Amino acid sequence: MSATVPLLPAGFRFGMSTSAFQIEGATDVDGRGPSIWDTFTARAGTVRHGENATVAVDHYHRYAEDVTHVADCGVHDYRFSFAWPRVLPDATTVNPAGLDFYDRLVDRLLAAGVRPVPTLYHWDLPQVLEDAGGWLSRDTAYALADYATVLVERLGDRIRDWITMNEMSVHALYGYALTEHAPGRGLGLAALPAAHHQLLAHGLAVQVLREHSAAAVGVANQHFPVLPASDDVADQMAAALFADLTNWCYSDPILRGEYPNPLIRDGIGTPDAVLDRDLAVIGTPLDFYGVNYYEPTMIESPRAGKDYRGVLEVDIPDGLPFSPVPVPDVARTDFGWAIAPGGLTDILRTLHERYPGMPPVVVTENGASFHDPGPDPTGRIADDRRIAFLDAHLRAVGDAVAAGVDVRGYYVWSAMDNFEWAAGYDERFGLVHVDRTTLERTRKDSWYWLRDVIAAQPAGARS
Ligand code: BGC
Repeated sequence: MSATVPLLPAGFRFGMSTSAFQIEGATDVDGRGPSIWDTFTARAGTVRHGENATVAVDHYHRYAEDVTHVADCGVHDYRFSFAWPRVLPDATTVNPAGLDFYDRLVDRLLAAGVRPVPTLYHWDLPQVLEDAGGWLSRDTAYALADYATVLVERLGDRIRDWITMNEMSVHALYGYALTEHAPGRGLGLAALPAAHHQLLAHGLAVQVLREHSAAAVGVANQHFPVLPASDDVADQMAAALFADLTNWCYSDPILRGEYPNPLIRDGIGTPDAVLDRDLAVIGTPLDFYGVNYYEPTMIESPRAGKDYRGVLEVDIPDGLPFSPVPVPDVARTDFGWAIAPGGLTDILRTLHERYPGMPPVVVTENGASFHDPGPDPTGRIADDRRIAFLDAHLRAVGDAVAAGVDVRGYYVWSAMDNFEWAAGYDERFGLVHVDRTTLERTRKDSWYWLRDVIAAQPAGARS
């Protein structure tokens, strides 16, 4: 066994992650209804090069091959998401063909020895629900619970691990507070109800899944260290507020039963008695807690007269009491994101300290976009920078484990190159390369590296 391979404890689970809208395509096939992302991508100026995901990487038709790429690598788990508009196109009527697709996918995974770990919701809200208010409406939370019921009744006999929601923070921030993602509302702090209703949906879904005897239920939240730009008190306070809004707003209600900041409670605008009842639902205990990590964020208190437009790829509206600024002196991925593996150790330790007795953690997403060229004449894709990135982050997980954090798994984002939301197809996060014209799949060197890392791990329970 090579000393250069990162080693994790026995029984540690390796996985790969994807999401429905980013890979499936077939958006108007077999009765699927429109989602907010179909509507958003059809609008001019929303996605780089005007790209959309009507074909994406055609996973809907190529899922059998894709399962082979997942299984051959030796990963234990495959995290994917159900497309709500495929299962319930009008949000109320079940589409049998949509359910059949997930039935086939799950059976394929199980036959290949891979545990399916589905996410109920990864941002592709049925358009019909957005038209009725989207996540600003409380009813959407109850609609998600009904959708969860449909899925667990059909697939609960074969799926043991469920994830409710993906990155509620990013969805509320980019889709409702800003305009970068669907539905592109741009409401600023008035988007806070969209955070709360997603959290309520999460809590209701946990209860539905439990009632149907799901073995393990978790959530996938994005977390990252928020670094004040200086020791200055104003910067420290700005960073703390930003951390409340992006990190703790989503983990405190789930793991502590409360919001971190009275400003958030006020912004949600729900009467106290209702909010407290909701928080009891949101705090329903979990079996595991999913952490998606990409990079830290640096925050400063806005300097008078300084123009922040264009400083980062996302423009933050004027008038907010914090401004994200680039983290200095770091290497970056081709997407421009800071490469900071130590940030993963830090955030895992911070969560562990903030929530004594929290459930075991699974890193449900981590990865990097590098603009890998297609295969060379020998058919090889040498993505050394992705290997270095993943290697460093796996070691960072090992450091967190050594510090006492109970981390049980690590999933790479992503199994294959896919539709990277507003950035379209330029950004490639995959372990498997997908040719944009032929859609042909080619395993990158990082795929082979991961296979070897998994094979070198100490033996352990792999049920
Ligand atoms: C999301 C994925 C996304 C990835 C890279 C996460 O925010 O869950 O859907 O593709 O990060 O941006």
